[in-house]
Amino acid sequence: MSQSGILQGKLVVLGVSGSIAAYKAVELARRLTQAGAQVQVIMTRSATEFVQPLTFQALTYRPVEIEMFSGIDDRAAGHVSMGIHADCIVIAPATAHVVARLAHGFADDLLATTVLASSAPVIVAPAMETHMWQNAATQANVAALRSRGVRVVDPEEGELASGMTGQGRLAPTEKIEEAIVEALRTRSRLLAGKRIVVTAGPTLEPIDPVRVITNRSSGKMGYAVALAAREAGADVTLVTGPTALAAPAGVRLVPIETVDELRDAVLASLPDADALVMAAAVSDWRSAEPSASKLKKKDAGDEMTLRMVRAPDVLAAVASARGPRTLVIGFKAETGDPVAEASRMLREKRLDLVVANDVSRDVFGSDSDEVTFVSADGAEPLPRMTKTEVARRLVEKIAARL
Ligand SMILES: Cc1cc2nc3c(=O)[nH]c(=O)nc-3n(C[C@H](O)[C@H](O)[C@H](O)COP(=O)(O)O)c2cc1C
Repeated sequence: MSQSGILQGKLVVLGVSGSIAAYKAVELARRLTQAGAQVQVIMTRSATEFVQPLTFQALTYRPVEIEMFSGIDDRAAGHVSMGIHADCIVIAPATAHVVARLAHGFADDLLATTVLASSAPVIVAPAMETHMWQNAATQANVAALRSRGVRVVDPEEGELASGMTGQGRLAPTEKIEEAIVEALRTRSRLLAGKRIVVTAGPTLEPIDPVRVITNRSSGKMGYAVALAAREAGADVTLVTGPTALAAPAGVRLVPIETVDELRDAVLASLPDADALVMAAAVSDWRSAEPSASKLKKKDAGDEMTLRMVRAPDVLAAVASARGPRTLVIGFKAETGDPVAEASRMLREKRLDLVVANDVSRDVFGSDSDEVTFVSADGAEPLPRMTKTEVARRLVEKIAARL
């Protein structure tokens, strides 16, 4: 099937809100209709100030819906029926106001109730003035939507309607269409009925009650894998060290700090797991004698030696505890030759797949990554892509092997 062939016969709800970029949604509606989708446009009242509903109606061959209390459906379900039947919902352009209402679960117009009542993938393409986009409130709202699996097609840099230049222009129509196609592809519930355990984030090994040995892991990769597995219909347990990330919705969270805690949590969930994805950055070392009381500066003088010992090898423990049917996937963050290291790890730790990445290339905390999948089939390098996309590719690999 061609990339956009997947749109054939799909019900795409296109939400249009009150942005100056609303005219660009006309082109999107047309492209989706031409690709064979049934496009149901819902406009906010503000959107009708910018574009006539008739324009959308003529291009999609369907009446445009605006009012919640219009009695679209005689079973009094009109405010939710489009959300229930939609294969996906795309809001383009999405105003700051719509983003805020969705982030907070408002149900004050037809578009909001439709989204709230839907389990279909939601794609949001914001468009607004740079200051509105950069505002902490907008950014927190966008982050909340992302953490719930909403696909946000970021606005681009360029000249804005106000004459200012900055980030805020609606993403190009092709990019929004790509996100729709991608959402429909992953909606196939590849991992329905499967149990997936994911580890994420750093570990914290105490030196004394206030100091720890840790690492720069942000947890973004593991959280992205948990979210992608959840989107694909899996039952997901996320064993996580402390991170600044919002927990993905619908995922069972097991917070840990030390390597021992991580190992125990992983081993406890292993018997039921179809796949274990070890994306946490687990410390190789820990203090030989963590102090029960705070180490005093004055006791140490100008120098202090911290004796370290090896922390438990969680992958080795997993290798001996795993059942034959459980898929185990490791991550290898290395400077130097990560693919060679990953191949060694694959053999020695009896793993099914290792995701190798070169951490000298600005990976920690970044939203994107350049990885190689290493398995018995060989090495498959992927181009640089967002961690969300890496996670979705990984989910496809897992599904193919389960
Ligand atoms: C000329 C004009 C252009 C606007 N463009 C935008 C925009 O691009 N993005 C945005 O978030 N708000 C924009 N607004 C403000 C929204 O229209 C306003 O917040 C409205 O309440 C949004 O309602 P809705 O989200 O229900 O469509 C604009 C307002 C005016 C008057």
